[in-house]
Parts: sequence; C-alpha cells; structure tokens
Amino acid sequence: MSVSAEHDKIKKFDWEPSYFHRDALYPTKYKIPPRTKDPFRTLVHEYVRMEEEKDDRTYGSLEDALGRLNTATGAEPRFMEVMKPVLAVVNFAEYGAMKGATMLLETVSNPELRQGYLAQMLDEVRHINQEAYLSRHFSKHAPDPAGFNSGFQMRAYDPLTRPGRACFELFMNDDPITNALNLQVIGETAYTNPLFVAFTELAAANGDQTTPTVFLSIQSDEARHMSNGYATLAAVLTEPDNLPMLQLDFDTAFWRQHSFLDNFQGVVYDYFSKSRKMKCYREYWDEWVWEDWAGSYIERLEPFGLQVPRWIVDAKRHVQWGGHTIAMVSAALWPLHAWRSDYMSDDDFEWFEDKYPGWEAHYAPFWTAYREMADPHNGHLAASLLPAMPAMCRVCQMPAVLPRLDTNEIQLVIDSADRRHAFCSSPCLEIFRQDPAKHQAMTWWDVNDGVELARYIEEVGLLRSDGRTLMGQPHLHTDERWLWTIDDIRRTGFVLQDPLKSMPAEAFIRV
Ligand code: BEZ
Ligand code: FE
Ligand code: FE
Repeated sequence: MSVSAEHDKIKKFDWEPSYFHRDALYPTKYKIPPRTKDPFRTLVHEYVRMEEEKDDRTYGSLEDALGRLNTATGAEPRFMEVMKPVLAVVNFAEYGAMKGATMLLETVSNPELRQGYLAQMLDEVRHINQEAYLSRHFSKHAPDPAGFNSGFQMRAYDPLTRPGRACFELFMNDDPITNALNLQVIGETAYTNPLFVAFTELAAANGDQTTPTVFLSIQSDEARHMSNGYATLAAVLTEPDNLPMLQLDFDTAFWRQHSFLDNFQGVVYDYFSKSRKMKCYREYWDEWVWEDWAGSYIERLEPFGLQVPRWIVDAKRHVQWGGHTIAMVSAALWPLHAWRSDYMSDDDFEWFEDKYPGWEAHYAPFWTAYREMADPHNGHLAASLLPAMPAMCRVCQMPAVLPRLDTNEIQLVIDSADRRHAFCSSPCLEIFRQDPAKHQAMTWWDVNDGVELARYIEEVGLLRSDGRTLMGQPHLHTDERWLWTIDDIRRTGFVLQDPLKSMPAEAFIRV
C-alpha cells in the first residue's frame, strides 16, 4: 500500500463515543465545526514506532551509559538543586496536559481534531513516566539526592511550587476549549521552547548530560501539540459566536500562564546556573514569547479576529524584574524548600548588572547580606531581610511582590463576606472580579498562618534522613558545621504569620 493510501486508511480510524453521556461530561460553551483540517499528519503507524524508539533510547541510556558513568555527580551542584522543583512541577504540568487532552478527546466531535488529542494524551502519559523516571534516577545518582525523592509531595506544600500547581491546573479545570488555550495555544506554543529546548542547553552548560536526553525526547512531541492548539484555535475562530468569549479566555489564560511560568523560569535560568555563558531569561523571553509567539504566531490570527493578549505589555514589563524579586523571596524563605538555595558570588553580580542594568542597586544588598547569613552560627534567618512576609495572590498564588518590592503592584481587597484578599497585579484582580466564585482557592497563608517554622518543617517532611538536618540550606556547603539543623531553627522561635492579618483595614479597597 502506498504511504498516502495508508494515511487515508488510518484517517478513517474514528469511533462513535457511545460509552458516556456526551452532553454531561465536560461540556463546552464553544461551537466546533464537525470537520476541519487535520493537525496530526503523522501516520498512527509511524507514530507508534517512533515513540517506542524514543522510549527505548531514553530509558536505555539512563540505565546504561549515564548510570554507569554517573554523569550526575559531575554536574554543578547549584544547577542540580533546581532540578528538584523543576521535575516536580513540570511533572504536574504533564499530568494536567494528559487530563486536558483527554477532556478534549471526550468533548470535541470532530475526527481530525480527536486523533490529534488522542496522540497527545498518549504523549503526555509518556512524559509523566519519563520525568518520574528521571527523578528516580537523580534520587540514586545526584550528589545531593535529598528532595528528589519527595518532589511530588513537596510541590503541594512549598509556597513557590503551589503557584505552579495553580497554573497547570488550568490545563484541566475549566471548559475543555479554555483548557486548550492554556495548554496548547499558550503553555505549549509559547513556553515549551524555553522550558524544554533552552533548558537542555542550560543543563548541558552546567554539566548535566542526563536531563537533555529526557527533555529533548519530550520536546520532539511538543511540535504536534502546538499543531493541535493551532487547529483547535482555527476551528473555534470559524464560528463568529465564539469570538467575544474566546478573547476573554485567551487574555486570562495568557496572564495566568505568564504569572507563574515567567517568574519561575526567570529564577531557574538566572539564579541556578553556574555557567555564565548563557543568555539571560529576559533575552529568551524577548525572542520566544514576544517575537515568535505574540509577534508572529498570534499576529497572523488577527485577520480572523483574535488580538494579542490584552496584558502582554504588562507581562513584558514584569519579565524585566519579576524573576529577580521572586528569586530573592525564594532564597529568603530557604528553610521552607526541599532544595538548597545557593548564594550569589562576585561573578554572578557582574553578570546580573551586565544583563539587567540597575540590578546591583536593587538586589545586591540582599544577596550580600544573604551570603553572610549562610552560617548557622550567626543564627539569623534570611527572612528577616525582607521588609515583610509576602502576601500570596488569591488568583495565581504567587507572592504579591511584583515586579519589584519598590514598585510592587499588589492590590488589597476586602470582599462582601469580609474576607481579605491580596492580588499580585491588576490583571489578577480583574480575573478575580470577573468570577469571584471561581477564585476562592486557599493561599499558602490560609493553610499555614500561626504555625511555628520548626513545626512546619517537621510536619511537612523537610528533614533529611538523619531526622535533624534541613533539606533546604542557604548554601551548598557539605561540611557539617555549615548545615542548619532543626535546633538552629527552633532557637530562632520564628512563627509563620499571614501579613494580610496585621494590615490596617484602610489599606484595602472594598468590592
Ligand atoms: C506539556 O507537557 O505539554 C507541558 C509541559 C510544561 C508546560 C507546558 C506544557
Ligand atoms: Fe508533555
Ligand atoms: Fe505537551
């Protein structure tokens, strides 16, 4: 049979979903035409062979060459620390992606689109397994394995990975088409290039040869998921009735993906690389999100009625400083993490000032003091360097400190039920106002206010296997005299206190 005949035959592969009540499960408010262009041009036949080969290569090399050569031991410890939250958070994104693709598969009655969603669902299952396997590999081989073993637990507790959960839940917790905007049109098309391609360069530059093997295998699927997004968007745009709600959902989705992903990636790229040969995150963002995604991909859809996201200029402004502010807050809260937060050296200072002119004036005083506080014998927690504990955004769950402490765009609100809310920005406040009932998730403070820090560390599972040394440390020293223990924390008497509670009522607006 010729290849095109085979293709046509496989395209007839369709099924009538009679095993559920179509109208009840995951309804969508969007109208989807019954037939559209085919986003998934690879033959199913070829697809399965190709994916099997990729799995064999990834797992084979992890078990064989990389495990035996023990390449993880040669990697920069600073970089290996960030793999702990990265793998935990990205693995959750894969889960959301799998679930989101499944919801589309069950909702959209269009065989061309459905085949693409089916393959994507299978891909995302592979990604979940590959990344879990990599976490396991590092639990065995990383120079400091503590934290790799507990990543999936930690991501639910840590104040800086909870916003990642809030972001990636958007792949699966709304109208299936709204999920597709978050997942395929924005998460995958705008952000998986920095997340999986540039990240492999970063890993390799820091001596980690294992992560690129897995991440490149994953990224080679993302091009097809981006096609799913484009085909879904094109189908939605053919129905004029869809347009007003589409623009609103699209604007919201962009801000929500930006608010976690850009700040998180800013921290990962700029603060966990030992190599300073790399571009900074703002440079990657300008190239991939601003120019390629918004400037080329989305602008081409303008004739069909879709406008670039409403808050993209605000996002660009926040990308300049947001990652630095979150890196500072994250380091200040180091005892709450299951990874070690290295201090910055003089070489780092120079790189920062070169890449982000003005950095020294805003951030060097913090990092200088942070370095001095690394020693447990000084007994001071770096949290004391912040003017106040950060409030958390009710919508995106990020610390409301953005873009910089001195230009903080925090919005404080008391609602009709007398509840206090902080929002990191006016877009997050507006997203809340559009549908307050949808944005009532508990923040990290709602869960932890009033808890003594030492008790928190014990209960959440942030102690190493000796039962007394913290997983998180404000440095990378391995010498015992440098290691903070639960006794050092207990001596500080530090209690976690929600900053919103002690603010005067006049600081809030009533809605
Ligand atoms: C994905 O696997 O599709 C994905 C992973 C991370 C962020 C966005 C998408
Ligand atoms: Fe994936
Ligand atoms: Fe994907």
